This record gives sequence, C-alpha cells and structure tokens, in this order.
Amino acid sequence: MLKNKTIVLGVTGGIAAYKSAEIIRSCVQKGADIHVMMTRAAKEFITPLTLQTLSGHPVHSELFDLTQEQEIGHISLADRADIIVIAPATADIIAKTAHGICDDLITTVLCATQAPVLFSPAMNVHMWENPITQENVKKLQKHGYHFLEPATGDLACGYTGKGRLPDPEKILEAISKIVSSKKK
Ligand SMILES: Cc1cc2nc3c(=O)[nH]c(=O)nc-3n(C[C@H](O)[C@H](O)[C@H](O)COP(=O)(O)O)c2cc1C
Repeated sequence: MLKNKTIVLGVTGGIAAYKSAEIIRSCVQKGADIHVMMTRAAKEFITPLTLQTLSGHPVHSELFDLTQEQEIGHISLADRADIIVIAPATADIIAKTAHGICDDLITTVLCATQAPVLFSPAMNVHMWENPITQENVKKLQKHGYHFLEPATGDLACGYTGKGRLPDPEKILEAISKIVSSKKK
C-alpha cells in the first residue's frame, strides 16, 4: 500500500520523538519514500543525523534555509507529499495548526499543503485532556485533518492515562488507510 508513496513526516518535541526512528524504518521497509521535518524542540529529543540516516534523505528543519530555498523548501515539501504525518504531535503543533500559525517549517508546510494530514498526538494525560487541546483537535477534525487517538498506559512523565504514542504498526495502518482512500 505504501510502495512508492511519498510520506512527509513531521517530528515534534515530545518525549516520544525517539519512536519516529521506528516509524521511518517501517515506512522504508514498505517501499515508501520518506522525508523528515523536525521542529527545534524535536532536535532536543533525537538527532537529525539518526533520522537522516534512516530515511536516506536530508532532514529539513529550518524555514529560512539558503540551500533548500532555491526551490522554496516548504512549498516543495507541501506539494510532493502523498500524505503528511505528524508523529509524535505535541499539544503545541496541534494548537498552532488549529490557529493557522506558520512560524516554523512544519507549521508553514501544514498551512501550504493540500495533501491529507495525519496527527498522532502524544503528551501528558492532562495536556491531552485540557479542554483547549480537545477544542483544537475537534476544530482540525472538522476541517478534514485526521487524528490517531493516543494510547492509554504508563506515560514517561510518571502518570498513567491517555497520551502514549500508538505503536508504529498502528500508525502505519492509519497512514495506509488514508493513502488508499485518497481523501483529505
Ligand atoms: C522533557 C520534556 C518532555 C516533553 N514531552 C512532551 C510531550 O510528550 N508532548 C507534548 O505535547 N509536549 C511535550 N513537551 C513540551 C514541548 O517540548 C513544548 O511544548 C515545545 O514548545 C514543543 O515544540 P514543538 O511543537 O515546536 O516541537 C515536553 C517538554 C520537555 C522538556
């Protein structure tokens, strides 16, 4: 299902960012072409070198990048994707997207794309249950953005509850379903 599909993966700054490495490996194994974008915060959790090596492509993280701007990097990423996947998705990226904010590479790509977008949120249970986060999720869903609900269990912050990044197989399943339905 994912063979020859172009997946643009946005990794944001949550503790589950290390799991993006496994998502990339699984996508590559399925024959997908995967391009990675990272927020500055994500780079505090996992190195671009790791994700670049696994994806086989340079990692994109700056909006104002002189090399990439020869082809207007954010538009090129927005246009080339069969799907954009944000995993893990922080409360912050969800809030920014819900409000049309474009102040870094990932938020700008999300605003510019016409490809389907899948968010896979992961955060502390109280951040997930925060009514503002929930409102932002509902608003984005209303506009056609896809969400994979966080899993329930022990969280890295010490709490137990909803907020874990689902297993990579679940994320791949959700990607395949969206790509095959070709709906936003
Ligand atoms: C140790 C640590 C772990 C964090 N884990 C999460 C997380 O799992 N989910 C989340 O939404 N924010 C988490 N944050 C907060 C984000 O890093 C913060 O909101 C940041 O501004 C997100 O930026 P980004 O959305 O541009 O990546 C964490 C912060 C720290 C210091």
